[in-house]
Amino acid sequence: MSGTSPSAATLYSRVEKVIPAIEWPVFADDIDAILRLKRERNAVILAHNYQTPEIFHCVADIVGDSLALARKAMEVEAEVIVLAGVHFMAETAKLLNPEKTVLIPDLGAGCSLADSITPEDVRLMRQRFPGVPVVTYVNTSAAVKAESDICCTSGNAKAVVESLGVPRVIMLPDEYLAQNIAAQTDVEIIAWKGHCEVHERFTPADIRELREAHPGVTVLAHPECPPEVVAEADFAGSTAAMSDYVGREKPARVVLITECSMSDNVSVGYPDIEFIRPCNLCPHMKRITLGNIRAALEENRHVVTIDPELAVRARLAVERMLAV
Ligand code: 13P
Ligand code: SF4
Repeated sequence: MSGTSPSAATLYSRVEKVIPAIEWPVFADDIDAILRLKRERNAVILAHNYQTPEIFHCVADIVGDSLALARKAMEVEAEVIVLAGVHFMAETAKLLNPEKTVLIPDLGAGCSLADSITPEDVRLMRQRFPGVPVVTYVNTSAAVKAESDICCTSGNAKAVVESLGVPRVIMLPDEYLAQNIAAQTDVEIIAWKGHCEVHERFTPADIRELREAHPGVTVLAHPECPPEVVAEADFAGSTAAMSDYVGREKPARVVLITECSMSDNVSVGYPDIEFIRPCNLCPHMKRITLGNIRAALEENRHVVTIDPELAVRARLAVERMLAV
């Protein structure tokens, strides 16, 4: 955030369209405390696009999709990074900043994709498909990344797969992302059976019903959705790509087939666009609150640590991705 000493009182105007005035006093005290603690501790807050608007618009210093958070984590000069997002994002920030303190406000902020695969699973896939490179979605533990050749995000998966110059890759663990990328490339993709518990719940029928109820609506879907859902959408892309699409195309009516806070956060910048809001909540992202961000800074918790030997290998996979 820029400007001189913002406070909860001056920040409300940023979110007044998505947070009722009557709710604001609940947030104000924590916001002022977090702004003070960031200065005292030389800390920055990195927030994913699925964080609630009072976090995203009022206390975060850097916001974005998984790829942007990884890239920008490398440029951080502060001593402390608070990751307002899920655990794999905090691990990625730590991999790229081994000397800094990285805090995650709630250790339970996991991810169904990260939980769907273990390092042993990756080793077994390598045995089954000898010599085939392993492309691992960033939505995985550092231990799984350490077994991989290169990472990818939903924002660069096609480019990463094609950068390897091979006819066949193993792409873990999101089956739907793998299928959606396979539809865009000649590279053969061997997938795993992991799914995002938020995006797997959308159906093609949902989209058809939306189009009937809201004529002319532009449908943007995240590529973690099943391929049949992506096929019904006008565009599929990472959370940042969806946000960029709205800014570039300025559709009169739009629906974001993804997590609920996306529409809240993006709509703030486009008062003339009508956002249709069926969505699914990510229970992991929603574990992060102003209260536990404040506690994280006050009590220096929860410090993210990664075994150093494993971190070297996992960092390599992330750095290879960032070089693509
Ligand atoms: P993005 O990289 O598109 O922000 O996605 C992260 C995520 O967890 C989506 O469910
Ligand atoms: Fe994981 Fe899905 Fe939540 Fe993203 S939305 S953090 S992929 S469970």
